Amino acid sequence: MSKIPSGHPDALGPVAEGPAVPSRRRRARPEKESWTKPGVATVAIPSEQFTFNLKPREIARHLDRFVIGQTEAKKVLGVALCDHFQHVRMTKEGVDAPFYQKQNVLLLGPTGVGKTHLIRSAAELIGVPFVKADATKFSETGYVGGDVDDLVRDLVRKAGGNVKRAEHGIIYLDEVDKLATRGESGGRDVSGRGVQTNLLKLMEDGDVPVVSPNDMNAQIQNAMTAMRGNGSGQPETINTRHILFIVSGAFAGLDQRIRSRLLTSATSGAVDAPGSASKASRLSTDELLAEAMTSDFIQYGLEPEFVGRLPVRVACHGLDADDLFNVLRKSESSLIHQYERAFSAYGIEVGFTDAGLRSLARLAGQENTGARGLMTVCERVFRDLKFALPSSKVRRFEVTPELVADPRKALRELLKGGR
Ligand SMILES: Nc1ncnc2c1ncn2[C@@H]1O[C@H](COP(=O)(O)OP(=O)(O)OP(=O)(O)O)[C@@H](O)[C@H]1O
Ligand SMILES: [Mg+2]
Repeated sequence: MSKIPSGHPDALGPVAEGPAVPSRRRRARPEKESWTKPGVATVAIPSEQFTFNLKPREIARHLDRFVIGQTEAKKVLGVALCDHFQHVRMTKEGVDAPFYQKQNVLLLGPTGVGKTHLIRSAAELIGVPFVKADATKFSETGYVGGDVDDLVRDLVRKAGGNVKRAEHGIIYLDEVDKLATRGESGGRDVSGRGVQTNLLKLMEDGDVPVVSPNDMNAQIQNAMTAMRGNGSGQPETINTRHILFIVSGAFAGLDQRIRSRLLTSATSGAVDAPGSASKASRLSTDELLAEAMTSDFIQYGLEPEFVGRLPVRVACHGLDADDLFNVLRKSESSLIHQYERAFSAYGIEVGFTDAGLRSLARLAGQENTGARGLMTVCERVFRDLKFALPSSKVRRFEVTPELVADPRKALRELLKGGR
C-alpha cells in the first residue's frame, strides 16, 4: 500500500483538464540510495539528466488544485520557476547564458495563507530537491544555531546524496522578516545582518563544502574513505549558481510604512494623480503590500544587498470566510480528508454539508491565523466526537451548523440514536 498521504501532491494523478502536466512520478529519475551521511564518499551517482518542460500556466493550474486564491502569487511563481528551470535545462544541454541573473523570489503575506504550501506543491511538481527552514534558526557564526551553508548541505541530503541534483534544487527560507536589524520591525539583533550577509554569496553563486567544517565525524570518515581510494567522484563542493532561493515573511507593520510613503509622495506632489492621498489612506493591507518597493524593505531593516538579490516579489492576500470555505471544500489537500480518514479507520462515515463547512470557516476566520485556524477549530469541534464515536454503534454522521455550534449536544443525540 502507498505510504503517501492523501492530499499530498505525490498521491495524485495527472491534472484532469487541459494539456496533462507530467506527473512527478513519471519524471522521477532512478535514485541509488547508497548515501548515508554527507561527506561520506560512498554514493554511486546516477547519470544526471535534468528534464523540464512545464509552462507557467501549467504550474499555476497545478497549484490551483491545492492552494485556494493567491492568483497573483501563482502567476508570478509560475513565471519565475519556469524561467529558472528552463535556464537550468538549457545550461545542462550546453546552451550557456553567462550573464543570466537568478530570479530569487520574495513572498510576503500574513500567516497561514499558503506561502509554504505554494512552494512545496510547486517543488513536488517540478521534482527538484526542496529544503525549507526558518531564518531564525541561523546565526552569523553558526556556533549558536545553524550555519546557512547547512541549508545547501541539506539539499544534498534531500537529493539522496547526489550533489549534481542538489545543485538545481530550491531553498525556501521562511521568516526572513525576523532578520531585519532596525526600523519598524524592531529587529532581533545584529546577527540578523550577519545571516543576511552569509546568504548573499549563496543566493548568487557560491561554493559550499559537501562536508561541514564543523562536523568532525564526517571530516574523519571522508579522509579515511579518500585514503582507501574509495572516492566515488562525488564533488567536494556544491555550487549554488542554479539553486533557486525563495524567501518569505509576514513583514508585520510593513503595510503602514508603505501607506506613509504613499501619503508622503502624494502630499509632496511626487504623485500627481488627483485624490491619491485619500486613496492611499483607504488601501487595505493586501493592497498596500502589493505596492511594496525595495526602499520599504530596506527601511524595514533588511540589507540593500539582500533585498537586491530578490528581484521577484509578490504578496499573498489574507483569506476571508469564503476562501476558508473553499480551502475545506475544494482544495485537494483539504483538512476534511484527514477527518474522513480518521473516522473511516473505525468504520465511521462522516458527511460534510456546505452549511457545516461555512460554519467551520466562519469560526476559523475569527482566529486570524489564516487556514491554520481551520485546524484549531476542527480540533475543538471534533474532539469529543473522535473520543466517543469509535466505541459507539454510530456508523455515520453529518457535519451541520448545529453540530459545529454545539458538538457535545450533537454527540449526545448521535449516541441516543446509535444505541
Ligand atoms: N490558500 C490556501 N489554500 C489551501 N490550503 C491552504 C491555503 N493557505 C493555507 N492552507 C493550509 O494551511 C496550512 C498552513 O499554510 P502554510 O504553511 O502555507 O502557511 P504560510 O503562509 O506559510 O504561513 P506562515 O507565514 O505562518 O509560515 C497548509 O498546510 C494548508 O493545508
Ligand atoms: Mg510558511
